[in-house]
Amino acid sequence: MNKIEKLLEANTKIELGGGQKRIDKQHASGKLTARERINLLLDEGSFVEIDKFVKHRSTSFDMAEVDAPADGVVTGYGTVDGRLVFVYAQDFTVVGGSLGEMHAAKICKIQDMALKMGAPIIGMNDSGGARIQEGVDALSGYGKIFYRNTIASGVIPQISVIMGPCAGGAVYSPALTDFIFMVEKTSMMFITGPQVIKSVTGEEVTQEELGGAKTHNTISGVAHFKDDSEEACIERIKLLLSYLPSNNVEDAPIFLTGDDINRVDEKLNEIVPENPNKPYDMKEVINIIADKDSFLEVQPLYAQNIITGFIRLNGKSIGVIANQPRVLAGCLDINASDKAGRFIRTCDAFNIPLLNLVDVPGFLPGTNQEYGGIIRHGAKMLYAYSEATVPKVTVILRKAYGGAYLAMCSKDLGADQVYAWPNAEIAVMGPEGAANIIFKNDIKNSEDPIETRKEKIEEYRNTVANPYIAAQRGFVDDVIVPSITRPRLISAFEMLETKRENRPSKKHGNLPV
Ligand code: HXC
Repeated sequence: MNKIEKLLEANTKIELGGGQKRIDKQHASGKLTARERINLLLDEGSFVEIDKFVKHRSTSFDMAEVDAPADGVVTGYGTVDGRLVFVYAQDFTVVGGSLGEMHAAKICKIQDMALKMGAPIIGMNDSGGARIQEGVDALSGYGKIFYRNTIASGVIPQISVIMGPCAGGAVYSPALTDFIFMVEKTSMMFITGPQVIKSVTGEEVTQEELGGAKTHNTISGVAHFKDDSEEACIERIKLLLSYLPSNNVEDAPIFLTGDDINRVDEKLNEIVPENPNKPYDMKEVINIIADKDSFLEVQPLYAQNIITGFIRLNGKSIGVIANQPRVLAGCLDINASDKAGRFIRTCDAFNIPLLNLVDVPGFLPGTNQEYGGIIRHGAKMLYAYSEATVPKVTVILRKAYGGAYLAMCSKDLGADQVYAWPNAEIAVMGPEGAANIIFKNDIKNSEDPIETRKEKIEEYRNTVANPYIAAQRGFVDDVIVPSITRPRLISAFEMLETKRENRPSKKHGNLPV
C-alpha cells in the first residue's frame, strides 16, 4: 500500500467514527451522526474538515488503549447559502462524544478561526459531558470554550444545537451563545440530572421533564427553537442565518420577495377591536406588515405575552418586539422582560434595526412579580432599548400605559420614529384605574356612583388617553392610518439606514441582571 492509499484508508477509518455498530445505535435512537448533521447543514460539497487526525493524550484508566477517531468531535468550515460558517459536531459514537483536552482544543481552534474570519459558528452538542478519565484537563477544556464564547459574543453569531445529552457545566457553552436549538425527545440539557436531584432533594422527575426540548422552550426560556426532527432543526438554523450578518461590522443579507413596498392593507384599520378590553392577534399584524412569509418567530413558546422575531421589510432584516394582547392582555412581566431584553441586545449587536409594536396595559401586578424582581428584570428592557444604537421605530397600536409605555421604546429611550394609530391611548395608567384615583370624590359623592364612574372613565379617555397629546409634544412623530403602516415603516427604515449614534466610551455598561 503506498502512502496515498494509506492516507485514504486512514481517512475512511476516522470518518466511520465509533464504528458501524455504534452508528446503527445512534440511528436507532432517532439521531443522525455528527458527519450526517454537518452535511445536512452545509452547502453540498463545501465542508472542509480540520484536525481530523487529532488524538487524545490520556493514559489514565486504560485510555492509552482507546482509539477515539477525531477525538469525538468533527470540526471545520463550509458554506450555508454560499456564506462562510465554522462548525463543530460532537460524535456520540466516539467515547460518548465526551469532551477531553484535545476534543476541546479542536473546538477552541474553530472558535478562534470563526472570530478571526468574522463568520458565524454553529456548535452541535451530543455528548456525555466532561470525559471522566481526563479529569481536570476536561474541565479546563470547557473553561477555554466558555472564555471564547464570551470573547466572541456580539462579534460573530454563535448558534448552539442540542442534539443529544448536554449535562453538567457543559450546558454553559450553549447558554453563552446567541441562539439554542433543541430537538423533540432527543435533546437534553440540565446542570444536574434526575438521579442527583432525587438524592439531594428527593424530587422525582424524568430526563425529558427536567431538561427536554419542551421544558426549555416553554418553561425555562433557555432555548429559542424546538423542532420535531434533526432535519427540520437544521433547516431552521439555515433560515435563521439568512436574517443575520456574518459579524458585527456587516449588515444582514437582503432577500427580496417581490412583495410590494407600497402595499396598504385595509384589514389593519379594523384589526384592533373598539372595546379596549378585547384581544386580537398581534402576529396577524406582524404578518400583514412584513414582506410575505418572512416572519421567523424567536422563542415562540416562551413568555407569549411578548413576541420576538425577525421579519423582512423590502428584503431587509428587522427585529420585531411586540406585545401580544391575547396573552396576559400583553402585560410585561419578568419572563417577557428577559426575553425582550435579550432579543433587543442580539439585534443591536448585529446591526439589525428594531421595530416595536406596542399594545401594553402595564407591568403585571402581584407579589410573585415583585418578589421575583420585576424591577430589575423590567429594567433590562429600558437598558437594552436605551443602549441600542440601531434604527428604532415604534408603532403604538392601542394601549401604552405608564412604565410599560417607556419600556416598549418610547421617544425618550431613543426611538427614532414613533407612530401611533388613531385609537392609541397613551397615558400614565388605564382610564379605569386613573378615574378611580383622580375622580375618587366625584364618584363617592355622586347619587349614582356606577354611572358617574362610567362617565369619568370616558371623560379621562377622551381628554387624556389618546395619541394627540403625545403628538402635540412630539413624543409621537405622526398619527397614521393603520392601513399604511407597511409603506410608512419601509420609508422610515430607509431614511434611518445611514443612522450613526455615538456613545461615551467605557469599558462596558452594567446591565441589570
Ligand atoms: C467518558 C463517557 C462519558 C463521559 C459517556 N461515555 N459519557 N466516557 N466520559 N462523560 C461513554 C460510555 O462509557 C460509553 O462507552 C459511551 O460513552 C456511550 O455511553 P452510554 O452510557 O453507553 O450511552 P447512553 O446509555 O446513551 O447514555 C448516555 C449518557 C450516559 C446519559 C450521556 O453515558 C451518562 O450519564 N454519561 C455521564 C454523564 C455525566 O455525568 N457526565 C459528566 C457531567 S459533568 P462504551 O465504551 O461503553 O461505548 C460535566 C462537567 C462539565 O460534564 C463541567 C464544565 C465546567
